Amino acid sequence: MQNQDFYRARIRKLLDEKNAILLAHCYQEKAIQDIADFVGDSLELARVASKTTAGTIVFAGVRFMAETAKILNPDKRVLLPDPEAGCSLADHCKPEDFASFKALFPDHMVVSYINTGAAIKAMSDYVCTSSNAENIIRAIPEDQPIIFVPDKNLGAYLCKVTGRDMVLWDGSCMVHEAFSLEKLIQLHRKYPQAKVVAHPESEAAILRIAHFIGSTAQIREYVRTQEAETFIIGTEAGIIHQLENDAPHKQFIPLPPEENNSCACSECAYMKLNTLEKLYRCLADESPEVQLEETLLKNALRPIEKIFKISP
Ligand code: 13P
Ligand code: SF4
Repeated sequence: MQNQDFYRARIRKLLDEKNAILLAHCYQEKAIQDIADFVGDSLELARVASKTTAGTIVFAGVRFMAETAKILNPDKRVLLPDPEAGCSLADHCKPEDFASFKALFPDHMVVSYINTGAAIKAMSDYVCTSSNAENIIRAIPEDQPIIFVPDKNLGAYLCKVTGRDMVLWDGSCMVHEAFSLEKLIQLHRKYPQAKVVAHPESEAAILRIAHFIGSTAQIREYVRTQEAETFIIGTEAGIIHQLENDAPHKQFIPLPPEENNSCACSECAYMKLNTLEKLYRCLADESPEVQLEETLLKNALRPIEKIFKISP
């Protein structure tokens, strides 16, 4: 195994030689965030992917994000360093199961969270991210019934803030649903001045206590603009790297999961599958590449494009 400098230098060289852009989600390991051309949340990354002139997009994130980049750029090569980089939300919403579920509610529109496979997007009327989900729901006429898929926690939060009674698919994020309410209360006692921020994929009990609820980018903006010095972070701990870059003098405390949870820390095991070495190899080999069938690419594009029309 080579050291990080070895991979860093070669990755940047290959990116230049191959007219490639490296996009990284804020949940990636620090070393990957530091060499990326752009680091952001899923909406920002989809936006950058839709505008890039690079011929190849290397996506340091998870599969549904790389698939979204491919749907937006069917003629470009999209590389995903580890093909096993899934997502508990996307992986537990199988197209055949969702098709049967959707058939139970023929009058409903489908709003799918971006954390789904391309086939679910193709069955949707709108695709949203956590940054713009509320705006999208509010833009749909009030008498139009909605199925929201696949995150029941984000769905319940959206029902609460918009007053809509949406039908929810029973999915959840294994990282955000693992946060411990008891540990949050203990941390709150220890740091009474701290502001609690949480991603809306977290459970209702955590969201009830949070001072601020928002997507990854919205949390960054909140932290940047608050006078508070200490923040308890109710989302994947990778975000802390960007928070520290944005506000080096502030203190960030990751919210831990329940004891005995399969997530030992507040990190997404799928996101952390990507490494500098895998990144280097996928650029050198131009593989693994995201491949999607043509009809699927076309049908999934329509609801995704609406992301950019209804801005957060
Ligand atoms: P963002 O839309 O905030 O980037 O969230 C993506 C995600 O996977 C959260 O777990
Ligand atoms: Fe999926 Fe949760 Fe990981 Fe985000 S943090 S990619 S929602 S498993």
